[in-house]
Amino acid sequence: MALVEFLAELDQLARAATAAFAAADNAGALESARVEFLGVRNGRLKTVQKGLGKVDKTDKPTAGKRFNQVKRQIEAAYQAAAESLAETAAPIADTTGFDPTIPGNRPRLGHLHPITQTIEEIVDIMGRLGFTVAEGPEVEDQWHNFEALNIPPEHPARDPLDNFYLATAEKAAGGKVWLLRSQTSTVQIRVMEKTAPPVRVISLGRVYRPDTPDATHVPMFHQIEGLLIDTHVTMADLKSVLRLFGMSYFEDDVHIRFRPSFFPFTEPSVEIDMSWHGGWVEMGGAGMVDPNVLCAVGYDPEKVTGLAFGLGIERMCAQRHGITDIREFFKNDVRFLQQF
Ligand code: DAH
Repeated sequence: MALVEFLAELDQLARAATAAFAAADNAGALESARVEFLGVRNGRLKTVQKGLGKVDKTDKPTAGKRFNQVKRQIEAAYQAAAESLAETAAPIADTTGFDPTIPGNRPRLGHLHPITQTIEEIVDIMGRLGFTVAEGPEVEDQWHNFEALNIPPEHPARDPLDNFYLATAEKAAGGKVWLLRSQTSTVQIRVMEKTAPPVRVISLGRVYRPDTPDATHVPMFHQIEGLLIDTHVTMADLKSVLRLFGMSYFEDDVHIRFRPSFFPFTEPSVEIDMSWHGGWVEMGGAGMVDPNVLCAVGYDPEKVTGLAFGLGIERMCAQRHGITDIREFFKNDVRFLQQF
C-alpha cells in the first residue's frame, strides 16, 4: 500500500472520529462511538492499523509515527467528549462536591414550655371573665409577703426553715429583710396599694419554698393568684368565678367543692376542690379578703368586700396531661417536653 494512501486513510479516520465524539450528546451515544472507532477488536482504528503491515518497508517508520499521532488524537477527542458530558450531567457535584439532590437537615422547631402554655391559657380564660394581669417582684419584703397579708411575726409561715431569706440582701439594705416570695398573694397587696377599688386582677408567677423535691413538691413552682374587690362581693361570686374557670380549663361540667380552712388573709377561708373524671381534685385555697388586709392597704372594709384565690399551676397542668411527677417539668429533658 502506498504511503499517501495510508496517510489519507488516517486523516479521514481522525476527522470522522472527532466529529462522532463531539456529536454524541449522551453517554450511550458516546459509548457506541467509542466502540466504533476505538473498539479493541473491530474498531476502525484497529482496521486501519492492519493496513500498516502492508505499507512499503521503507515508509513504515513514517507511517507508524503518523499512526501513533492519530491514535492519541482520537483518544484525546474521546476523553474530552466524556468529560464535557459528565459536566453537563452533574455540574455542581463535580465542581464543589455539593449534591443539591440530597435531602436537607430539617431544623428542629421548639415550642413553649408546658407551664408557659398553661399560664397563657389561664390568662386567656380569666381575661374573658374581666381579669387583667398584674405582676410583682420575686424578691419581696416582709410587708408584702407577710405583714400586710395579716401574717404576724410569730406566725409559723415566717419560719426561716420554710422560706428563702436573703442574707446578703439584708446586709446591703441596712437591716431590711428580703426573701424570695413564698406566695403570689404578695401581688394582691401591691395592686391594692396602687389602685382604688374596684379591682379585678390575676397574677401568675414563680414562688419559692425550701421543700425537698418529690413527685408533688419542687422548691420553685408557679401560682395563679386572683383578686376581685368591689361592693357586695360574696362567696357566691367566688364559687361562680372558680366554676367558670374550671369548666373552661378542664373543658368539662366542673363542680366546685369548698372545704373549711384557714388562711390569715381571708375570712372565711376554704380549700377548693374541682370535680374531674368522677373524682375531686385539690386546686388550692381561697376565701373572702380579711378586713385586716383591706385596712392594711387603706381600703374601707365597710364599703368594699373581696374574694381571693390561689391555685398551683404545675398541679393544674399535670392534672390535665396525666403527669404524675411535677419534677419532670424542670428537668429540661426534651423527650418529655416535646410531647406537649
Ligand atoms: N397563698 C396561699 C398559699 O400559697 C394560697 C391562697 C389561699 C391564696 C387563699 C389566696 C387565698 O388568695 O385566698 O398557700
